[in-house]
Amino acid sequence: MADLAKEYYRSRTDAIIERFGPGPRVHFHNGYIEKPGVPPEATLDELRDSMNAFQEKMLKFATDHWRSFADLSGRVLDAGCGLGGTSIWLAQNFGADVTSVTNVAEHIPLINTFAAQAEVAELVHPHCSDIHTFAADPGRYDAVVALEASCFFDRHRWFSMLSSMLRPGGHVLIEDVFLGAEPGWKNTFDATHHTDVGSVEEYHQAADAAGFRFIGGIDISSHMADFADWTIAWNALRATQPGADTEGLKRAIEAQRALQRVTGREVDGIRGQLLAYELAAPSL
Ligand SMILES: C[S@@+](CC[C@H](N)C(=O)[O-])C[C@H]1O[C@@H](n2cnc3c(N)ncnc32)[C@H](O)[C@@H]1O
Repeated sequence: MADLAKEYYRSRTDAIIERFGPGPRVHFHNGYIEKPGVPPEATLDELRDSMNAFQEKMLKFATDHWRSFADLSGRVLDAGCGLGGTSIWLAQNFGADVTSVTNVAEHIPLINTFAAQAEVAELVHPHCSDIHTFAADPGRYDAVVALEASCFFDRHRWFSMLSSMLRPGGHVLIEDVFLGAEPGWKNTFDATHHTDVGSVEEYHQAADAAGFRFIGGIDISSHMADFADWTIAWNALRATQPGADTEGLKRAIEAQRALQRVTGREVDGIRGQLLAYELAAPSL
């Protein structure tokens, strides 16, 4: 599963930048949509700019919530950082010193370039590693953020390693997809996205076993599902243009439509959530 995900993201780099770029803050997570509806006449550039704005609205919604209890201005680990969009956002907005971990070696120079363009190169430190074998000094981080990346991880291993890297009272802050009331959709979703989507209960168990306390969650499914309308519109328009991988784009549209149906529109199969955990202080 890990190798498939790595190869998927490595091979999709150009397509991701074409759809969600041009940078310097390139995100590949869902957007936060308040009002559904894609303008029928929108151009590719307009669709891309809107998607970037919705993705940043998701980041703003999440970080506004997290900052009410967590320190995002200290040392932060961005686990499964993609092209560093979240890392650069945290550095620019809060002065965070961010370690950005990705398992795709080809993404490291791109993150460095984007961070330099955003004038936060001294605050963003990309590192290539599988997250499960990433090592850091004990208590190094104030917070760990993971935007739509923990669905790829082994949660028990991940929380266990985080318990030594975070300082006591440090936070794990997650935005991701989780199994809904009809978990039969797991296999379909995982096969499409190379993930290992878990239930919220599974996260709670992994966190609890590693010494974390659950401190709150917000269901964001209704804001997330409509984002696929935009990616479908972008893919459909791109498919009509010269040089398009028409068959690949058609397959992507089908997968996005299927996902929309199970992300609450028709079936409670997959939910979007923010989850937050705090590392317990050692007892005296
Ligand atoms: C959906 S993307 C999200 C990227 C980024 N967090 C964002 O929101 O833009 C998932 C990311 O997780 C990374 N990833 C998946 N499995 C990983 C692993 N085992 N170790 C490190 N990174 C991993 C992928 O390379 C990819 O960058």
